[in-house]
Amino acid sequence: MKLAILLTGKTGQLGSEFSRSLPRLGEVIAPDRNDLDLRDPEKIRRVMRDARPQLIVNAAAYTAVDAAETDETAALAVNAEGPQVLAVEARKLGALLIHFSTDYVFDGSKNSPYVESDSPNPLNAYGRTKLAGEEAIRNSGASHLTLRTSWVYALHGRNFLRTILRLATEREELKIVDDQIGAPTSAKGLAEAATALLHEMIAATNDRLTVPSVRGTYHMTAAGQTNWYEFAKAILEEASRAPQDLPWLTSATNGRPIIASRVLPTSTQSFGSPTQRPAYSVLSNARLREGFGVTLADWRTQLHRCFSSGSG
Ligand SMILES: NC(=O)c1ccc[n+]([C@@H]2O[C@H](COP(=O)([O-])OP(=O)(O)OC[C@H]3O[C@@H](n4cnc5c(N)ncnc54)[C@H](OP(=O)(O)O)[C@@H]3O)[C@@H](O)[C@H]2O)c1
Repeated sequence: MKLAILLTGKTGQLGSEFSRSLPRLGEVIAPDRNDLDLRDPEKIRRVMRDARPQLIVNAAAYTAVDAAETDETAALAVNAEGPQVLAVEARKLGALLIHFSTDYVFDGSKNSPYVESDSPNPLNAYGRTKLAGEEAIRNSGASHLTLRTSWVYALHGRNFLRTILRLATEREELKIVDDQIGAPTSAKGLAEAATALLHEMIAATNDRLTVPSVRGTYHMTAAGQTNWYEFAKAILEEASRAPQDLPWLTSATNGRPIIASRVLPTSTQSFGSPTQRPAYSVLSNARLREGFGVTLADWRTQLHRCFSSGSG
């Protein structure tokens, strides 16, 4: 019998990549926000009880980091209260829940990669709501994997890659902060790695995805580290060499030529964002590698693949 999989957030960066990779593992049901709104506990329960999934992949989230500062209640509903209901229902069904969290649960005061046992201390509302989601899932007693990732981008959606490409068609000079360090991670690389991990688990547990050992938090990001300024320069380097008729690139630039010829570093303080972000949020993937044998490519390689294969 095919594994029954429920995917949330199919319109998002990560969710749309999962829509492509998860059918390799089973039968995927992927309701959109109208059919499964994470702010509506009754709807979540109804969908879970009708679909009776063995595996739930929660790629939905409130990800607007700045907006969360003024609407933490809404962010909490989507990032913690909804996932809690998903987890309770998963436990009742004996299903495994895969959930995603963020490097922003940390305060950035370390200067070596964060490991899973480091104490979280979020600096902003988004981070607080994501941490609350992690805790609610952990306390639910459901079999779960919470995968913390960072700086996610895709060929579609709202993200740094597309913002830089658009700005580069509007301005000759871009000023980008160089004092926040992290690991840009492509949604496609992330979905592929999570799908490979699930494939391994299905094989290793004879389809018994809910064995007690399958519980916990793992870091899953591209390898390496950089800052936003270096990331922006790498994006423009790749764009200058890529075939200019790549459909996603034309959509990101609106078909206009790139005119930016200078990228200059600036500081977070002079950029003046209203939201505090960690200065350093690199996540060690050692636990993932040792536990599951899964590794992701270096961030620079992932970025190059977006421009060379056009598929992220
Ligand atoms: N983006 C990043 O840089 C980043 C960094 C670290 C961790 N993460 C985590 O990675 C995961 C995936 O992020 P992403 O970048 O792929 O997110 P995204 O592109 O912003 O997509 C979010 C998805 O959630 C859906 N959604 C929002 N509110 C909902 C609600 N009330 N009920 C049901 N669905 C709802 C959205 O639907 P609509 O299309 O209808 O709005 C969309 O499909 C999230 O857990 C996020 O916290 C992201």
